[in-house]
Amino acid sequence: MKTYEIQGGFGLDHVIASERPVPVPGPKDVLIKMRAVSLNYRDLGVIEGFYNPNLKLPLIPVSDGVGEVVALGEQASRFKIGDRVSAIFTQSWISGEPTQEGWVSTLGNPLDGLLAEYAVIREEGLVRIPEHLTDEEAAALPCAGVTAWHAIVEEGRVKAGDTVVVQGTGGVSLFALQFAKLHGANVIVTSSSNEKLERAKSLGADFGVNYSSNPDWDKAVLEHTDGRGADLIVDLGGAATLNRSLTALRVGGQISIVGILSGASVEGFNIVPAILKKARLQAINVGSRDMFEAMNRAIGQNTLRPAIDRVFPFEQAVDALHYLAKGTHFGKICIRF
Ligand SMILES: NC(=O)c1ccc[n+]([C@@H]2O[C@H](COP(=O)([O-])OP(=O)(O)OC[C@H]3O[C@@H](n4cnc5c(N)ncnc54)[C@H](OP(=O)(O)O)[C@@H]3O)[C@@H](O)[C@H]2O)c1
Repeated sequence: MKTYEIQGGFGLDHVIASERPVPVPGPKDVLIKMRAVSLNYRDLGVIEGFYNPNLKLPLIPVSDGVGEVVALGEQASRFKIGDRVSAIFTQSWISGEPTQEGWVSTLGNPLDGLLAEYAVIREEGLVRIPEHLTDEEAAALPCAGVTAWHAIVEEGRVKAGDTVVVQGTGGVSLFALQFAKLHGANVIVTSSSNEKLERAKSLGADFGVNYSSNPDWDKAVLEHTDGRGADLIVDLGGAATLNRSLTALRVGGQISIVGILSGASVEGFNIVPAILKKARLQAINVGSRDMFEAMNRAIGQNTLRPAIDRVFPFEQAVDALHYLAKGTHFGKICIRF
């Protein structure tokens, strides 16, 4: 089968088209023929070597995708031939709290990912996908969608009338926007681009702040909420945003610590304002299969569609990764097989 591998070192130049034998499913496994994958910021972090400098190579990158079941192990019974399925990001996290061992079962690092014509996945590590979605739309869900669902619904418990801030207009942020709107929230989006802010409004955003032309976006959030602050802030910027997220938060509000787009280490973080606000800082790490299935029910019932920026053919997978690195996208970048 055709595949891509990170070979011989880190960096986009080390993502090489190659060949591997079609994998054979074990007794409880499923063989899927891939139809589409989507890219995440994390895929770049893996390829560049800053997520896991000790990663064993060669490795098939990319965690998220959708395929069709084409063969079943002799004891596999959860799916039938022809089903459209997605692999869950953390293969061993089915429900409840995650475990330490679970972190070594994530696709695309350290396990092989899905940028290959076929993949073998344990049947427990797969979910059915909402029928109304195209392959590309469904491929957008496993990491970005589930992370946003976890932040907004499972931990954020967003309810009608809440104010939610989402940062930037990438994959996680736009899913968070859509899920927060689904729950009746007032949603504020930050972006470096006025044009992207307009597009976010067409997805339901109520208010936009350009964090490039107005770095004091936290003050804009306070003004927009009559000084009260936001109930929930999905922090995706990390180093450059966490302090401001705390300023923009209401007393008793929650920050979902999700992203590291501007770095992972926050200088000058002062604990006192967090205490004075009784802030809840909740880190998020994608989510479980139960969360994925709950999200899929909500997406199905509301015929929600993920925001897809662009679809590349499999032959241009490396171009798609370069395009992701440029950061000009709005929503998800996908690759079609
Ligand atoms: N904890 C978890 O479980 C988890 C899961 C998924 C992702 N993540 C993390 O979440 C972050 C977003 O991932 P993604 O895949 O959604 O990324 P993405 O699709 O590549 O989104 C990138 C967008 O973020 C915005 N951005 C960049 N720097 C920013 C900053 N300093 N402040 C605010 N916005 C900024 C930009 O939007 P504009 O062009 O509109 O400015 C950029 O286009 C990454 O750090 C990723 O590692 C964490």
